[in-house]
Amino acid sequence: GAAELGPYRHYMQKEIFEQPRAVGDTLQDIQTITPELFGDGAYKVFNDIDNVLILACGTSYYAGLTARYWIESIAKIPVNVEIASEYRYRDSVPNPRTLVVTITQSGETADTLAALKHAQRLGMTHTLTICNVSTSAMVRECKLAYITRAGVEIGVASTKAFTTQLAGLFLLTLALAQVKGRLTDAQEADYLKALRHLPVAISAVLALEPQIMAWADRFASKENALFLGRGMHYPIALEGALKLKEISYIHAEAYPAGELKHGPLALVTDQIPVVTIAPRDELLEKLKSNMQEVRARGGELYVFADADTKIVGSPGMHVIRMPENYGKLSPILHTIPLQLLAYHTACARGTDVDKPRNLAKSVTVE
Ligand code: G6P
Repeated sequence: GAAELGPYRHYMQKEIFEQPRAVGDTLQDIQTITPELFGDGAYKVFNDIDNVLILACGTSYYAGLTARYWIESIAKIPVNVEIASEYRYRDSVPNPRTLVVTITQSGETADTLAALKHAQRLGMTHTLTICNVSTSAMVRECKLAYITRAGVEIGVASTKAFTTQLAGLFLLTLALAQVKGRLTDAQEADYLKALRHLPVAISAVLALEPQIMAWADRFASKENALFLGRGMHYPIALEGALKLKEISYIHAEAYPAGELKHGPLALVTDQIPVVTIAPRDELLEKLKSNMQEVRARGGELYVFADADTKIVGSPGMHVIRMPENYGKLSPILHTIPLQLLAYHTACARGTDVDKPRNLAKSVTVE
């Protein structure tokens, strides 16, 4: 009821603002990385695998896509990520040396549970879940687990569950890297320091809300939007587009920016806002030329730029500056403004934010 909402208008807004607490709780007080964070016997399992298969649906699937970048670049283990409802029905080539990772907020999604069982039937016994509900069917079915501490999520559109999944997946990346001998003590210390600082970093991003609300007022009258990201921020662009379509009913699509010229550029007019995630990374110069391609066709850019990118606003290019560049953990920070943009756009359109039409919080039937 209203009492639980406190100063917030909707559960979704409350849950967005709970993220410093949720991510902090999920990371507990971890002083050192050890496979046993994922359960007894995790060392033996991690030592015995040579690839990872991630299975999930919806927002949890985008957490998996993000984790692929982390695991391949830090732990150097090949990763496949599949939508659970597709994996369970296709012929695939099983490898018993696979770590099967399911990601699920509820732990009860029918397709994800069925995909896990399918993998088990194919002889894959090394199973791990990143899950928000310790008593769920998924946690019972998997050998290993990391329980995220988002707390109960009521808004149908997932927010704090996603960022806590990312935190858990980053820990998994570090634990895998350690077992495979690819994590030095100095790197471990640096990553742990960055993880510990995350709640403060997320709070600084939440403080951008007033600027994002001003953008949302302009988005409210649009019927289409494009989201661009590159590298490990491409899945964050996908998540940003999903949030916007779920709760505001604006049609939104995400593209890796380098793919613009292979199709979506045809859609760009002055009627389509183009949200761009612009971290300061090795792809920044390429991203800037993608942004020019959009501007040249009259597209209006809405850019979330890291503080150190030197991207400045100009006619047709609106910029919100992110407080800090967060390196490998940057996808977690860049998620926050996209949640706020979707939320405030939906509010401006007057939709039922916490209960969007046709959607359910947890899909326990096929
Ligand atoms: C539903 C929800 C989404 C969620 C997806 C997967 O579609 O509306 O927010 O991402 O299910 O749910 P899970 O509980 O498995 O993460």
